[in-house]
Amino acid sequence: MKAVILAGGSGTRLYPVTIAINKHFLPIYNKPMIYYPLSLVMLLKIKDVMFVVNPSDLEMFKNLFGDGSKLGMNIQYTIQHKPNGLAEGLILAKDFIGNDNILYMLGDNVFFGHDLVKIMNQAREDIEKNGGAYVFGYSVKDPERFGVVEFDENQNVISIEEKPKKPKSHYAVVGMYFYDSNAVEIAKNVKPSERGELEITSVNEEYLKQKKLKVKLLGRGFAWFDAGTHDSFLEAGEFVATIEKRTGLMIGCIEEIAYNNNWITKEQLLELAKPLEKTDYGKYLLEIAKEE
Ligand code: TTP
Repeated sequence: MKAVILAGGSGTRLYPVTIAINKHFLPIYNKPMIYYPLSLVMLLKIKDVMFVVNPSDLEMFKNLFGDGSKLGMNIQYTIQHKPNGLAEGLILAKDFIGNDNILYMLGDNVFFGHDLVKIMNQAREDIEKNGGAYVFGYSVKDPERFGVVEFDENQNVISIEEKPKKPKSHYAVVGMYFYDSNAVEIAKNVKPSERGELEITSVNEEYLKQKKLKVKLLGRGFAWFDAGTHDSFLEAGEFVATIEKRTGLMIGCIEEIAYNNNWITKEQLLELAKPLEKTDYGKYLLEIAKEE
């Protein structure tokens, strides 16, 4: 399994903050937004990652992650010249995906919850065995603002609708998906929507048409933020700060995960911690390196 993380887009809902800077570099409390989706990919032990980025941001992403080797990973980039929609990333990552199954993640989504990785792994195993696609549903107060999924008691998807006026359930489709490699061909056949974008909902609808779309629910114990608006951005930061201060454990700490995965040695972890020494983030990494 490989992962593709969407980190392009125009970020207009965060204007004027994102006029000159891509939102994925903005801090959700103490680390860049993009660390959060990347950390989930790493928790699933997926080493091969492709970021979809805007042309003007490529150098900055390379400054942050390079080729991934300092995290023991293989990180590649593909350029999206215009924000033509979430499904275009599948087409742009075609050669990288090849015949593999993928985890497809939005770069501005933040997740937290006990057993999240377990639930994601169940979906992954199903895809690896049977193919198809998975979406994840999260109960929200205002489903009409989201992609909404309706499902039967076996969690087979009945319908999936983008921002419906009369939502058929309270479950929003969150920004992570598992696909088999057919997703690329499906995306290629998607027609632009009224707003001129290749919608990820159209890809999911095609899987649904083929009876290959399933859903897993993220219940009460989970937190999900689409950090793309001023309020949700702030809420995500406050949430992370609260949990981290309370537990003394970090959310989305990519160096820690790389170390726990045995992708990097203690020496490499110390090397990564060194320039961060003055921060609690760096001190946290040093503590981890000290533990046996
Ligand atoms: P959105 O938040 O839907 O779009 P956006 O980032 O352009 O922001 P706004 O609506 O405020 O203008 O995008 C979801 C994620 O997908 C986000 O991490 C950016 C990324 N993205 C791409 O990489 N390419 C795209 O073409 C689009 C639309 C989004």
